[in-house]
Amino acid sequence: MMQFPPITYGLRSLIYAVIFAGLFLFAPCKNSNSQELPRQRIGLNADWRFMRYDANPDSLAYDTRLEITEHNDNVVADTKPTEAIATNASDDVLKKWILPTANDFISDPAKKHQRPPGDPGRGFPFVQYDFNDQAWESVDLPHDWAISGPFYTEANPVIGGGMGRLPVHGVAWYRKKLDIPVTDKGKSMYLDVDGAMSYAMVWLNGHLVGGWPYGYNSFRLDLTPYLNPGGENQLAIRLDNPPHSSRWYPGGGIYRNVWLTKVNPVHVGQWGTFITTEAVSTSSATLNLSLQIENKSISDQQVESVTEVYVLNSLSNRAENSVGTFPRSTITAPKGEKVIIEQSLFLKNPKLWGPPPTQRPNLYVAITRLYSGGKLIDEYETRFGIRSLDFHPIKGLLVNGKPVRIQGVNQHHDLGALGAAFNIRAAERQLEMLQELGCNAIRMAHNPPAPELLDLTDRMGFLVIDEIFDSWERKKTPLDFHLIFPDWHEPDIRAFVRRDRNHPSIIAWSFGNEVGEQYTGEEGAAIAKKLHNIVKEEDPSRPTTASMNFAKPDMPFAKAMDIISLNYQGEGIRDAPAYAHLSGIKTSPLYPAFHQQFPDKLIVSSETASTLSTRGTYIFPVFDGLNAPVSDSVGGDPVSLQVSAYELYTAAFGASPDKVFSSQDEHPYVAGEFVWTGWDYLGEPTPYYSARSSYSGIIDLAGFKKDRFYLYQARWRPDHKMAHILPHWTWPERVGKITPVHVFSAADEAELFLNDKSLGRKKRGRYEYRFRWDDVVYHPGELRVVTYKNGQPWAGDTVKTADDAKGMRLIADKSHIIPDGKDLVFLTLQVVDKDGLPVPRADNTVQFELSGSGMIVATDNGNPADMTAFPTTQRKAFNGLALAIVKAKPGATGQITVTATSTGLTTAETTITIQQTDRK
Ligand code: GAL
Repeated sequence: MMQFPPITYGLRSLIYAVIFAGLFLFAPCKNSNSQELPRQRIGLNADWRFMRYDANPDSLAYDTRLEITEHNDNVVADTKPTEAIATNASDDVLKKWILPTANDFISDPAKKHQRPPGDPGRGFPFVQYDFNDQAWESVDLPHDWAISGPFYTEANPVIGGGMGRLPVHGVAWYRKKLDIPVTDKGKSMYLDVDGAMSYAMVWLNGHLVGGWPYGYNSFRLDLTPYLNPGGENQLAIRLDNPPHSSRWYPGGGIYRNVWLTKVNPVHVGQWGTFITTEAVSTSSATLNLSLQIENKSISDQQVESVTEVYVLNSLSNRAENSVGTFPRSTITAPKGEKVIIEQSLFLKNPKLWGPPPTQRPNLYVAITRLYSGGKLIDEYETRFGIRSLDFHPIKGLLVNGKPVRIQGVNQHHDLGALGAAFNIRAAERQLEMLQELGCNAIRMAHNPPAPELLDLTDRMGFLVIDEIFDSWERKKTPLDFHLIFPDWHEPDIRAFVRRDRNHPSIIAWSFGNEVGEQYTGEEGAAIAKKLHNIVKEEDPSRPTTASMNFAKPDMPFAKAMDIISLNYQGEGIRDAPAYAHLSGIKTSPLYPAFHQQFPDKLIVSSETASTLSTRGTYIFPVFDGLNAPVSDSVGGDPVSLQVSAYELYTAAFGASPDKVFSSQDEHPYVAGEFVWTGWDYLGEPTPYYSARSSYSGIIDLAGFKKDRFYLYQARWRPDHKMAHILPHWTWPERVGKITPVHVFSAADEAELFLNDKSLGRKKRGRYEYRFRWDDVVYHPGELRVVTYKNGQPWAGDTVKTADDAKGMRLIADKSHIIPDGKDLVFLTLQVVDKDGLPVPRADNTVQFELSGSGMIVATDNGNPADMTAFPTTQRKAFNGLALAIVKAKPGATGQITVTATSTGLTTAETTITIQQTDRK
């Protein structure tokens, strides 16, 4: 059995405090006055100037720029080695000045980079203080320059369906003047960028400071040498986002938070604490702290450190009740160096972190204080949880000794109509709906998320596989990560693990997804082993993994990791009769073979299903088997670009949820699954690449539940009394025609009635996960199901034939909104008939309007083929629904009223109260 030391981590600062005027002082210390704070973390999100070009306006490229001249909508996985494409020899290549930013994340001193002499870009106007940028767009961060569109609707555009048909590509500049008071002289000041897409290069006062190419990682730059306290300070950030660099929508821009961190020259280093635990039980736990102190001053310094542990109050999100203190210790920090202090603390009766509903996600916060000559010189907060994990090859995952079945989903980083620009409320809404589904685990497919998303998973108790790469040396798209893999794989992995390793929600690190190196035998396995070792150096306590859709048990690749993560291979790929004619990878179910080959390793399916569907769309005839690959004649409509929601149709390599469930039930040692995907995401619209967003979500892009939601809920929340009928029952053109009815429920028996006439009572057999009446003849009226479990009444559902559309309903997800410019309210618009029944295929054009101190940020309807730009306030309903996303202006008061009008329908209206505080 593979056993890992019980761990606990925590890490970063959760920031849910309301921020006004764009300035946020990070103030962990109780009773502190901001003047005295030894550490300040100031939000730099407000008031940037922004300019984007399709071409390269300045020739200041990170590396020789490769160009693609031919665009093809169907960019698919490609495992051929990289070929040179075309070069632009006139570029100024700045790579040598950027690479030293990686030095803190390179372990071999001989491999660290020396900054060459010179100051490239110094003469370029955009980096100058005096450059007049008034004509540039004024933006606040997080900012995704591509999300407002317009969508490319032509064939083979520069950005095709794979990357979401939105203008993500190009070179862009962001400029901001910094106000640094003269009193800051002598401080160390860092720019902390949580994520910039991509190839970020940063100038301060005309000097190139450094940068970070990989758009999903967070990075820090030391601004101190170039700052001018009391004087003029000009920050300029250049991004370069190549086309054909991703298999999905990456977004473009500084799409996460940016901070200015001000500290004394002697301070806790970047991500400088790591708390692990051992011997965890409800009666005690031992905490181990590794604390890195950095001395940037010009002399050696004696530093005293003390770290106190508090309970984190989940409501106030503040430290309360000290529960213990690590031993006080004094150390000499040599000038210009970093030193590490290791300490332990024995804690009695810890409140453990674990996933609901059976456990609670309790959190702690450690506050580290550094003193020099008795004076407080730094204060640093580390949030963490105490829990043990056991990865058992037969029992599956045990959290705090208790088995927890992994009921997970894959999630991409975009937030639908809001794009890649991170927003806490939008992410929280995604997680809340996943929790309602019964989901307890997320795989971050296939890149490090925004730090605040991990704060949410900690707080809400999700289990997370944190993942970093979709490609290594072998490309999947022509300009993806493989171009920088040689220089950046080590720094990227170390930065990724160091940033996130205190989060209790993270249970494992994935260093790759379906990489081409699965195909290259020992050579590929050697790379996998190298990456595994880097992860282990940064965090020996968690297991590693890399997802395999091709590597077989007897191939060297699988040996390189701790956990066996299978994409689709576990339940078998293209092994059902309906898939027999397809080419590509074919495997029989491989769980037994992997289990036999790796009897000590936990097996999980890191991707399952890839079932495809469009919410509310049903296409006839309906396939009578368990699953079939979607095609233009089976389950798909190539004209409307939609896929039937009978939830039987899949990607060519996929399987219906039913097939996956039976395969998991037949192999109970498998720890669980991560469905592809929880929510629809932008890009990768298999099977219709002229669309804009995916079909694989259990929930659509707008946040509306597909029928599949109830299929998973029935399995993942077996005690939840629920029954769900599909399809809707408004089919004037189908009178007298066969219209199959399927019901999802955790019940074991169900009886269906059409206009009160029984269509038969059915029992669900072993390895059956839905009730189906495949020969129902459509007549309008009422369809009703009554279900039973263990002979007792369980739950029911009714659908009725609707009349013509006559009105609308507007339903807000919250009745109040915080006026911080960030909080959001999501409004669902439903088209209804004269009796208030939903009109299931309504596609009326709706105009949203807002009065009060707020704005409509975006609208959507979940239709993967809708090419209306997201910021528009006029949107067609799709299958009866539309979405409007609203925010309040910073500092606003009063109420916001949202109105929806549509020709021929009665108007709908709802009111939202602006409230100063809510989330603390
Ligand atoms: C997998 C891949 C995912 C996504 C999915 C689509 O093979 O790992 O990133 O492309 O297929 O169904």
